[in-house]
Amino acid sequence: MTDPAALIDAARAAAVHAHAPYSRFAVGAALLLTDGSIVTGCNVENASYGLSLCAETVATATATASGRLRDIVAVGIVGGRIGAADTDPVRPCGRCRQVLSEAAQMSGRDLAVHCAGLAGGNIETHRLSDLLPKAFGPADLGIGEQA
Ligand code: THU
Repeated sequence: MTDPAALIDAARAAAVHAHAPYSRFAVGAALLLTDGSIVTGCNVENASYGLSLCAETVATATATASGRLRDIVAVGIVGGRIGAADTDPVRPCGRCRQVLSEAAQMSGRDLAVHCAGLAGGNIETHRLSDLLPKAFGPADLGIGEQA
């Protein structure tokens, strides 16, 4: 199991590529897969603000496009204002919790979610099931894990 610090380091490296000219808030996400490999993403904003994508969603979509949606075991997230020294942990937004929950429910595995600030500081760890209790999911649609 990759340690949380390594996952947070990967997320921080991904945040360098954030396209965030509007919010000036960079986020990086790193997904640890069952084989120990890591898939990353950053937030991708758009001049049409509502089209912007969060880092966790980009990373999850990237893993899915490689056939790895069911292989996600842990998530590292960092965020903070560009050029500031933000060390408060950034937790996933509600939409990203739901996106990550799709991976968790498809694999039948709860995810560890490690959160940190862009500029460093402590790593805060949660279980996705604590961040999004009683989640809506495939079972509500009568669809099983192997869909
Ligand atoms: N953002 C993420 O990438 N992930 C989150 O979980 C929270 C917010 C991004 C969206 C937007 O580009 C910027 O952070 C400010 O909200």
